[in-house]
Amino acid sequence: MGMTPESATAVAHPNFALSKYWGKRPGPGNFPAVPSLSVTVAGMSTRTMVRFSDELGADELVLNGVPTHGEPLRRVGLLLDRVRSLGAEKRRACVVTSNDFPTASGLASSASGFAALALGATQAARLELTLSQVSDLARRSSASAARSLFGGFVELPAGPEIPDADAELSARPLAPATHLDLRILVCVTSEEEKGTGSTLGMRTTAERSPYYGAWLDAAPRLHGALREALLARDFQRIGELAEASAMAMHASALAAGIVYFRGATLDVLAEVRALRRRGVPAYATVDAGPHVKVLVPTPDVDAARRALGAISGVLRLIEARVGEGASVVAREGACAS
Ligand code: PMV
Repeated sequence: MGMTPESATAVAHPNFALSKYWGKRPGPGNFPAVPSLSVTVAGMSTRTMVRFSDELGADELVLNGVPTHGEPLRRVGLLLDRVRSLGAEKRRACVVTSNDFPTASGLASSASGFAALALGATQAARLELTLSQVSDLARRSSASAARSLFGGFVELPAGPEIPDADAELSARPLAPATHLDLRILVCVTSEEEKGTGSTLGMRTTAERSPYYGAWLDAAPRLHGALREALLARDFQRIGELAEASAMAMHASALAAGIVYFRGATLDVLAEVRALRRRGVPAYATVDAGPHVKVLVPTPDVDAARRALGAISGVLRLIEARVGEGASVVAREGACAS
């Protein structure tokens, strides 16, 4: 007779980086080469149930209703192995996860996905970790996921300069969701999965881009200035620096042949500049995919919606607010017997 099956369900939200993480420290561990600063969003979420059971011979993954193998299951298994190495729970787990937005298309599904998985798995395994330790665990799978454990505006420092796979590196909250009255309009330009995953995109940029050194040099300065603008609630400066960080990141990637932009991406970027010429303070950021996230003060959101929604390549608009961090929504089994 085995132990009681133990399960927990966690919900996490994507985060969009205003100052981008692009590039890893050489050597072991999954450490960012540059600091980043993000906003956690509300209105989009990943819900993940993790159940350890002695009826399972191997870890299982059900992603958006579909039993999934290959690379996604391997990455989930690596996180579960770390959880099993931290405590008494040694059984295999079944992970059932779903997103209410397109998966793996540059809409930060890996961020919310690994944040929800790290929280759900550590809870199901009855580990007593701080949120900071859960953030470190998530960071080992996907560095941007470290930021989704926290709500509001969140910072992830660069990793240690001397490689040390065991070093702890967690994100930390900088300002709460109420700090800035801001909306993010996600302009979805494709429902397909993205071409080049962020890990390969970063590696190719580091190996082949003549501008990678320039990016490593610029990113911490942009980050420091953005952090100050954020703390001063200077929306215009935040927007300018966020757009500059995204453009510098993509410039370094483009020079290595890594192209995330599509025609519609450029059309949205042009409309964002046109909005500014008409007096609407809108600013854009783009991640490792073709969508554009447009930052706009809440009073200007309707004007921005009308303009962006009229672009033929924009398939739909998701309006997101600044949101809260990850949370546990259900827990079962602890008192079952
Ligand atoms: O954490 P990853 O491996 O999914 O990389 C995220 C990279 C960007 O989304 C492009 C930038 C960022 O800071 O989130």
